[in-house]
Amino acid sequence: MGNNLAARFSDRVEHELLPELEVSSNSPHDPVIVRQYPSSWTLLGAGNYAAVFCHPDYPEFVVKVYAPGRPGLEEEAEVYRRLGDHPAFSQCLFEGKNFLILKRLEGVTLWNALHRGIAIPPQIIRDIDRALDYARSLGLNPHDIHGKNVMMTPARRGVVVDVSDFLHADYCSAWDDLKRAYRWIYRPILLPLKVRVPSWTLDWVRAFYRKLRQMRSRKFRGLFLRSSHG
Ligand SMILES: Nc1ncnc2c1ncn2[C@@H]1O[C@H](COP(=O)(O)OP(=O)(O)OP(=O)(O)O)[C@@H](O)[C@H]1O
Ligand SMILES: [Mg+2]
Repeated sequence: MGNNLAARFSDRVEHELLPELEVSSNSPHDPVIVRQYPSSWTLLGAGNYAAVFCHPDYPEFVVKVYAPGRPGLEEEAEVYRRLGDHPAFSQCLFEGKNFLILKRLEGVTLWNALHRGIAIPPQIIRDIDRALDYARSLGLNPHDIHGKNVMMTPARRGVVVDVSDFLHADYCSAWDDLKRAYRWIYRPILLPLKVRVPSWTLDWVRAFYRKLRQMRSRKFRGLFLRSSHG
């Protein structure tokens, strides 16, 4: 993939997208709010830190624009440098002040697949497991792997779309929890019934899960403090 092309795309980002873009973030636990952007661009997704856009003239790239005040851009670029070229990950082609130019990954997030009733075969889970093992073999620490950070490609392979927290040192249970939910709820119940899960239900489950994780980590910290004092 040409670096020249990525440089030209980043020029378009600087001169066409950014001047008209209004993006803000009220909380690190909720998706950023995109109020305005030029009509020739498409909003592909909004995470809690950044919004991701593509443009029809550059179909192989996306631009990830960090909302003002949200950190992590340099760390994400560093993770991509370490990952190199791997089929289950994107690549970072250019690092701007508040944006990254990334290789576009085609497909649907697992969150969207659930929402649209698209079957998620076990191969997807195996691919992602293998990709995360690869990241670990490089000394990275897969983090925050939830349903909006993994995708299924049109060829039905699993890919990881967001590596921004892979330099964090602490254990994150998100992917293990997601696999448990896949094994015990999705595969035996939702998959055979071809259920479409409404987005409000998915958002509710996500919020409930966040609370549960907070409670779990508080309990863990409590236990740790007690055992280190006594
Ligand atoms: N390389 C890519 N190719 C295609 N779509 C992408 C790509 N990167 C991100 N997206 C889309 O944009 C969404 C938001 O991107 P991303 O997850 O990187 O943002 P974030 O703010 O870091 O998320 P989080 O809330 O998990 O921290 C993704 O869920 C996905 O739908
Ligand atoms: Mg994300």
